[in-house]
Amino acid sequence: MQEKVRLTQFAKHGGCAAKIGPDTLSRLLERLPGFEDEDLLVGFETSDDAAVYRITEEKAVIQTLDFFTPVVDDAYTFGQVAAANALSDVYAMGGEPKIALNIVCFPENLDADILGEILRGGADKVKEAGAVLVGGHSIQDDVPKYGLSVTGLVHPDRIYRNFGCREGDVLLLTKQLGSGIVNTAVKAEMASLESEAEAIRVMTTLNRKAKETAQKFTVHACTDVTGFGLLGHCGEMARASRAVVKIGVDGIALMQGAREYAEMGLIPGGAYRNQRHVKDILDAGDVEEVWVDLLSDPQTSGGLLFAVPEDEAKAMLQALRRAGLGTEISVVGRVAESGAENPGIRLRRKVEMR
Ligand code: CO
Ligand code: CO
Repeated sequence: MQEKVRLTQFAKHGGCAAKIGPDTLSRLLERLPGFEDEDLLVGFETSDDAAVYRITEEKAVIQTLDFFTPVVDDAYTFGQVAAANALSDVYAMGGEPKIALNIVCFPENLDADILGEILRGGADKVKEAGAVLVGGHSIQDDVPKYGLSVTGLVHPDRIYRNFGCREGDVLLLTKQLGSGIVNTAVKAEMASLESEAEAIRVMTTLNRKAKETAQKFTVHACTDVTGFGLLGHCGEMARASRAVVKIGVDGIALMQGAREYAEMGLIPGGAYRNQRHVKDILDAGDVEEVWVDLLSDPQTSGGLLFAVPEDEAKAMLQALRRAGLGTEISVVGRVAESGAENPGIRLRRKVEMR
């Protein structure tokens, strides 16, 4: 009998934890020439989730791609996670995925059926998203990698950007945090089966329902929480919106076991890199130190972070719950100030909703 291949053994960092750090990236991107086109609505300058290009007054194309090394051992599940993660950037721009292409790197000496399962997992997610898979590109490589390039559509007036949050806005996050930490615990063979199952359930869930529900409300800013962790993505939103964001840790939904594993030091390296990226703007107040680790944990296929005007936040929260998102939703906090001299993130136990 053939021994089951553990896909994560190939990868030093799995999933979005393998991302290149935000500091390095922004330094490199600065050296690229600027691109100007009056129909380019979102380019790379604002570090948004995807690019958006206007085709007509009513239609714009969203273009994105995402791929990474195995974050779970099971091939079919890995395919699902990688595809859900890649599709998410279209949802994070407020769009609808339409066309997907596979991106594949796979070792020559590994059983091709494993790749077959990865592709099947990805294809099933594309189908669930209502998009079509139309091809792709594959090369031989020592470390397996998989992902998608996705094209989506959005109305040019209804694009969600990662900045623009305003004073008083409530921040909602649609998936619980902790996938990097739980995956680290799984690799160390210290995670409970329940934690592992929850992480897989979260990472394979499409952000489709979250986005479709949000579209019935006003959204001032949106991004998906992935490799830079909640603090990193909140930090980008705060900096780009010149806002001060208050996070109430009591309102954060965590995956089962995440806090316990973090306290045991089962923290992926990317979390520390993310902390360095926000250290100039972070005021951690008097919340327990473990919260800084939990909130900077790199997420793979994380939820959507919405900045919603306060008078609509409650109704949106209820609508998300009716759509089947329940305990996974965090009321992260609120925007305490916009147009601020010094943008920042403040951690508190509780943030009062006025
Ligand atoms: Co994103
Ligand atoms: Co991405």
